[in-house]
Amino acid sequence: MKKETERRSRRLVLVPCPLQGHINPMLQLGTILESRGFSITIAHTSYNSPNPETHPEFSFLLIPDGLSDRDISSGDLISLVLNINHNCKESLNQLIQQEDPHRKEIACIISDELMYFAEAVAANLKLPSIVLRTTSAATALAWSAVLELKAQGLIPFQDSRSHDLVPKLHPLRFKDLPISIFADFETAAKLAVYSYRNRTSSAVIWNTMDCLEQSRLLQVQQEHKVPIFPIAPMHTIAPHTSGSLLKEDRSCMEWLDKQSHNSVIYVSLGSIAFLSEKEVEEMAWGLDNSEQPFLWVVRPGSISGSDWIELLPQGFRNGVGERGCIVKWAPQKEVLAHEAVGGFWSHCGWNSTLESICEGVPMICRPCFGDQRVNARYVSHEWRIGIELEKLEREEIERAVRKLILGNEGKEMRERAKDLKEKVTVYTREGGSSYNFLNELVNLIMSF
Ligand code: UDX
Repeated sequence: MKKETERRSRRLVLVPCPLQGHINPMLQLGTILESRGFSITIAHTSYNSPNPETHPEFSFLLIPDGLSDRDISSGDLISLVLNINHNCKESLNQLIQQEDPHRKEIACIISDELMYFAEAVAANLKLPSIVLRTTSAATALAWSAVLELKAQGLIPFQDSRSHDLVPKLHPLRFKDLPISIFADFETAAKLAVYSYRNRTSSAVIWNTMDCLEQSRLLQVQQEHKVPIFPIAPMHTIAPHTSGSLLKEDRSCMEWLDKQSHNSVIYVSLGSIAFLSEKEVEEMAWGLDNSEQPFLWVVRPGSISGSDWIELLPQGFRNGVGERGCIVKWAPQKEVLAHEAVGGFWSHCGWNSTLESICEGVPMICRPCFGDQRVNARYVSHEWRIGIELEKLEREEIERAVRKLILGNEGKEMRERAKDLKEKVTVYTREGGSSYNFLNELVNLIMSF
């Protein structure tokens, strides 16, 4: 009881990066640490601010982010993140100093790997800080390699090298390197240096686990001089945490109830990726020709030049009702847990990848940019639970869907995915690795 009271009087300030794939793990971490007795403050920007009503157990602190409409609408996420770091440092500094009576209770600041300004604020206020890494360990290593290759003049690489293996980075090829499509290389590299190299935190929490990334975790541990706590998958340790910025359309769950076991291909490319009209046309006819039921998340605005699905081929739209269901945003974790879902066509964002593994669902991998390329390569070549879709063409899509849902290769992938799910489940149980690392993390925070 004394320990519990002691922890409640310790406040943790959590600083998420305001992008869906980063907000989710940070809120999950908040829920986990709150359940371990800490008081939680979420310090967030106005841009993509989380909904306080879904988390009455947390306090919320709004950091004026100074972003202009142009910053937000430009679509250049790298510059957006750099601007947030530039604009929010002084505001957070002042806000925390004014945070009486909570100021004295603050045990540490935990910030997303991209929100390095928060680490500088912590150092200035003489508070300990911890980084939350929301992407894989392989991605961190790949970024280090990218920076080295750049220094050697090997990046940008020639097309003829794209299928060559990157030295010391097996199984990644040059085309799998986490290069951004949002900004020029120099700008993206600047963010990578801040995110991966210049860190001063006391520890790193990583949303990964060694049954997925054992050798990579050992490598990153050698590169980091501070303790690393691989605590994953956070969404299963904190299963009821909601961080969705868009409203989930639950009607797809009723639609799934009517489909047969392992028959549905679930298609979602996350919260950032966008597609051209030509690409969605190929996707639509590929799905249709596969003759498998599909649940497709088409995020509003994700098809260039249209608000929602207006640019999908008319003939396809007329026939969707027979075999498919299209929604703007789905309760993804529940969808993946549904027995009708036989495969996940994903962009391989790290959250989606972990969520698919946790439900034992094999994947069709079609990465769009950045770390998704790294994750896709691991899904298809290391864990062998997915098919890589090389070309976004209808024949190839049709073949991939049928192979995954109906073929023997798909069946073997599903079996391997189920095995991986079992391993992951053991990690989060009492006595499992993630459970033990969480205890160590709690002890570390209590020692500050
Ligand atoms: C971003 C990057 O693009 C990604 O590469 C990086 O790994 C994390 O940050 P995002 O593209 O949104 O993330 O992908 P992902 O990491 O998969 O996160 C998406 C989240 O949104 C998942 O937690 C998923 O469950 C959720 N989601 C997605 C929904 O709840 N409903 C949907 O319909 C689609």
